[in-house]
Amino acid sequence: MKGTTEVLLNEKKIYKPSDKVLKNAKIKQWRAVQKKAAKDPVRFWDEAANDLDWYSYWGQTFDDSNAPFFKWYVGGKCNIVQNCLDRHMGTPVENKTAIIWESDAGKRRKLTYKQLNQAVCKMANGLKFLKIKRGDRVAIYLQNIPETAIAMLACAKIGAVHSVVYAGFSANALRERIDDQGAKILITSDVGHRRGKVIDMKSLTDKAISGSPSIQNVIVVRQGTGPVTMKMNRDIYYDALVDTQPSICRTEQMDSEDPLFILYTSGTTAKPKGVVHVHGGYMVGLNRTFQWVMDVRPDDVYWCTADPGWITGHSYIVYAPLMAGITTVMFEGVPDFPRPDRIWKIIEKYKVNILYTAPTLIRALMCYGEKWPMKYKMKSLRLLGSVGEPINPEAWRWYHKFVGKNKCPIMDTWWQTETGMFMISPLPSMPLKAGSATLPFPGIKAEVVDKKGNKVPVGKGGYLAIKTPWPAMLRTIFKNPKRYIDTYWKESPGYYHTGDMAHKDKDGYFWIQGRSDDVLSIAGHRIGNAEIESALVSHKSVAEAGVIGKPHPVKGESAKAFVILRRGVKGTDILIKTLKKHIRTKLGPIAVTDEIEFVEKLPKTRSGKIMRRVIKAAELGQDLGDTSALAD
Ligand code: WTA
Repeated sequence: MKGTTEVLLNEKKIYKPSDKVLKNAKIKQWRAVQKKAAKDPVRFWDEAANDLDWYSYWGQTFDDSNAPFFKWYVGGKCNIVQNCLDRHMGTPVENKTAIIWESDAGKRRKLTYKQLNQAVCKMANGLKFLKIKRGDRVAIYLQNIPETAIAMLACAKIGAVHSVVYAGFSANALRERIDDQGAKILITSDVGHRRGKVIDMKSLTDKAISGSPSIQNVIVVRQGTGPVTMKMNRDIYYDALVDTQPSICRTEQMDSEDPLFILYTSGTTAKPKGVVHVHGGYMVGLNRTFQWVMDVRPDDVYWCTADPGWITGHSYIVYAPLMAGITTVMFEGVPDFPRPDRIWKIIEKYKVNILYTAPTLIRALMCYGEKWPMKYKMKSLRLLGSVGEPINPEAWRWYHKFVGKNKCPIMDTWWQTETGMFMISPLPSMPLKAGSATLPFPGIKAEVVDKKGNKVPVGKGGYLAIKTPWPAMLRTIFKNPKRYIDTYWKESPGYYHTGDMAHKDKDGYFWIQGRSDDVLSIAGHRIGNAEIESALVSHKSVAEAGVIGKPHPVKGESAKAFVILRRGVKGTDILIKTLKKHIRTKLGPIAVTDEIEFVEKLPKTRSGKIMRRVIKAAELGQDLGDTSALAD
């Protein structure tokens, strides 16, 4: 990380907004807006809530009487689906395209708001038919297809809690998440498509839920044409379930603080955390940040290339764009198949105005050369976004020049599964610096602090921390309030602890440096070092394992495992292959481990904890730092 920081500190060029961008920006006087919000953040968020529809208004905007279990819009009644769909019905928005979807094979599907609303109502009635009610958990394990959004909205509509599991996770990982939440229903598909290949999703999910104490039914979205093994009285095709259902369904009036979804994310232990988000604060935070940062206009076509299985997909593929009543693009597959121009082609084909993507994707496409984006004018593009990891200045400039053709501002948005919404991000009218997420969003108070919670001087690295609560924040860790307190409210006294390192420059701009804790970011996907270690030691040949992250030119970070084998086991190339495969089976392709090295010993503390920091420093040829805790 040291190398990155040095590069970032030398990044001085300021990109001022063009006259055109300034003229059209929703927020022109950004300093004044920030100043006003900083004076009274609660008032700022109170006003923001008025942009949305409520069944009945809240009494108290913010309640911190049971900190850190904060509440927002206390007593208010709402439903995020009311704002995504219901309120557009009977207005000109209902005939607008809500979702454009392109399949791996390039097939297109469009749904207007009216059609989407009908599909959601039918699905919601289908769930009710299967006896799903308020508060019940529904797991969704699907590729990036419109039914993922339909299923999420259908759950929310009837007050059920959805939990989407990214399709790149293994059967084991899916099972672990289903068990933790006690999901009654699993929504999946027969097959998925990626790079022209067919992935057998149904066999994988059958394996995942075999003997599950909670799953009552499996809803199968038909994506292929081949035979599917369906279990009697448990499995039902999505079409068969929804076809006979009425296309109207009442939206449940939820309390602001009622849970909307659980999304699992990696932490520092092997067990993923079930991050809980609620209807009220989440919808307000999303709507305000999306409207201002992405500067949306009513006729925009917007494309976020994330997968709905991640928070980016939840917040900014599904919920925020639909609340805004604009067109959101979804795509199945990968950016470089069938050719490395897939992204640029889609932008031209659907006249995309806003592109929101990740540095790892930009770097991967940079490897194919600028000749690919240069072939496309992409005239419709007005604004670009980045998320998931620090964007290195080189990738920023490439994105700006060859994709944005030097005219689109780049919104580098820093946020997390836990924050729910953008936290540190430019507004289009602000001057930009390549590689900086710029300033906290109005109403957010971010700081760089040391271990004791003291602010550190300008230019010095420290922990990125948030001073005051915000509406879209997580409410707890599902069934584990203690872990919620310990992870987020103890590490940086007086602050929400983000787990990231950062520094501020003299203009107050934030430069995010990466994680401070033991969480890897491989191609922008969060995965715990401990998760990979735990997968490794579950193999019969492995006694102990220590996993570290190494800088990687495309993926940002890659995982390397140091493994102590059990007595008598030989460390061969075949075993390396077997262990890599084993990790894949346990966790899924997302946890790809590039290197495995067999060692005799691992550096440990006296209490027996593996010191990953020391392994990493040794591997990267860096100073070992403080080794006083080392046992040997
Ligand atoms: C990292 C994704 C630098 C960060 C929305 C954070 C970023 C983690 C940025 C959360 C950014 C996200 N610049 N780093 N613009 N955006 N990160 O929960 O380390 O999948 O803590 O949420 O991604 O990852 P998560």
